[in-house]
Amino acid sequence: MKSDKRWLQRQNSDPYVKQARNSSYRSRAVYKLQQIDQRDKLFRPGQLVVDLGAAPGSWSQYVAEKILPSGKLIALDILEMQPIKDVEFIQGDFTEQSVFDQCLQSLGGKRADLVISDLAPNLTGIRDTDQARSMYLSELVLDFASRVLTQHGSLLLKVFEGSGMEQFKRSLSEQFQKVSVRKPDASRAASREFYILARRN
Ligand SMILES: C[S@@+](CC[C@H](N)C(=O)[O-])C[C@H]1O[C@@H](n2cnc3c(N)ncnc32)[C@H](O)[C@@H]1O
Repeated sequence: MKSDKRWLQRQNSDPYVKQARNSSYRSRAVYKLQQIDQRDKLFRPGQLVVDLGAAPGSWSQYVAEKILPSGKLIALDILEMQPIKDVEFIQGDFTEQSVFDQCLQSLGGKRADLVISDLAPNLTGIRDTDQARSMYLSELVLDFASRVLTQHGSLLLKVFEGSGMEQFKRSLSEQFQKVSVRKPDASRAASREFYILARRN
């Protein structure tokens, strides 16, 4: 079977795709964040949150409902994103200094309570290369987060199982008091992705 046909079949039978289509959310990805939030109570009104790799925007839609209008949400992606009311969007590569500076400017001298990242690297299909890329991306997210978070701030990021992960978790533990692994139901079992929540308390 052709892979695009298989993809279509999977999309049409996926309960989370159906749920997203029947709601106003832009992607099934929202249910991963919602399930983690139901367990870990990530969001509160008034928080300052940065969403890395935000497009098409379902995570930002969800977070906006939770933290606005008293909070602030900065969404960032290389791709364009349809506007979301009262969410500040920065288009660019988060690894570039100019984009980081724009983010700092949007934070207006404050620091973030939470950085969330659903970033995914461009995959080549070559396992070792993809693993190295995703580990590197995770390290860049950690670096970004450590520069923008408050001293009590938390980081939630998507990672991919593979070599280097144990070392990465150790780096997180050096900066955060509590590091937990989450694989929400909405994350497909066959996918090597999972999420790490790093908290300072
Ligand atoms: C899985 S999607 C995010 C889905 C999103 N959480 C949602 O709920 O709609 C991953 C996003 O990461 C973005 N991305 C990948 N590398 C990036 C980079 N270096 N800087 C900014 N965005 C990046 C991609 O453009 C893509 O939109």
